[in-house]
Amino acid sequence: MKVTIVGAGNVGASCAEYIAQKRIASKVVLLDIKEGFAEGKALDLFQTATTLGFNTSITGVTNDYSATAGSDVVVITSGIPRKPGMTREELIGINAGIVQSVSENVLAHSPNTTIVVVSNPMDTMTYLALKSTGLPKNRIIGMGGALDSSRFKTYLSIALDKPANDIHGMVIGGHGDTTMIPLTRLASYNGAPVSQYLDQQTLEKVASDTMVGGATLTKLLGTSAWYAPGASVAYLVDSILSDQKRMIPCSVYLEGEYGLNDICIGVPCIIGSNGIESIVDVQLNAEEKQLMSESANKVAAMNAALTDIL
Ligand code: NAI
Ligand code: 2OP
Repeated sequence: MKVTIVGAGNVGASCAEYIAQKRIASKVVLLDIKEGFAEGKALDLFQTATTLGFNTSITGVTNDYSATAGSDVVVITSGIPRKPGMTREELIGINAGIVQSVSENVLAHSPNTTIVVVSNPMDTMTYLALKSTGLPKNRIIGMGGALDSSRFKTYLSIALDKPANDIHGMVIGGHGDTTMIPLTRLASYNGAPVSQYLDQQTLEKVASDTMVGGATLTKLLGTSAWYAPGASVAYLVDSILSDQKRMIPCSVYLEGEYGLNDICIGVPCIIGSNGIESIVDVQLNAEEKQLMSESANKVAAMNAALTDIL
């Protein structure tokens, strides 16, 4: 199994590291536009193989798409990240051009690949990749919900003071500070509703901390986060390559599901060897439906900035 990661920066390199360490693919190619950068990152990572005990080959190339040929999955992380005070949305102008040209280049060499879009604003970049490549919707997956859900579960585990892996829950909606919808009502401590253990004020704080989870890290780090984003991409790629059919919230093109049309936004999906194999219909209550509709309106407004490109 071969995975190409376009953009050998913080998220791309971290994703390569987890894919190799968890033996998710036999071959990882890192590609970057910056001369020598992907080669350097790949060599450094590959030199951990004997100490960490993995056999995944990791190579790097500068803008040479022929090296990506035959990739089963291509992850697009190329683009600029957030700086403190910036929203994901402010990245649209620069990242749209990058995501569009990268999608065309990867498909020229891997026409059967599944594309995972990470670059922000992710829902809009996923929509752009889908519309500009014409790929079927199951093969363009936006990664955001996996990360946001992992942050949600982390904050819940801290509030509950219980092990993170005993917590279940998900975040749907757009991957933005004001568009995410942590589904607190459905979150559980090993099946028991978290509302049995946490009061409303604490639950609201967990939800709001989750929504600004990326911004909090950007403020602390001076750039956006990479460990949890890289691990979330690796988790998604693992479900595709091993055909695990995990339910993961992903940004996917909707045609009536959740009452929405012509938009890519986060909903729970079954992820397997065919990419997005199906969309899971979770029954939302009236308040959650309203939040979903508001989230979609904001994402659609951002997509309008693509009018000149598409
Ligand atoms: P970074 O700046 O560390 O890495 C980006 C890399 O892309 C750079 O090495 C740059 O040289 C490369 N690049 C730029 N244009 C390129 C092109 N045309 N072809 C190939 N490579 C190109 O940024 P970082 O932190 O890795 O973030 C990458 C993107 O992922 C950002 O847009 C960021 O906002 C987004 N992100 C999305 C998340 C999500 O959950 N969807 C989570 C974290 C970051
Ligand atoms: C994150 O959530 C900024 O999308 C990036 O960390």
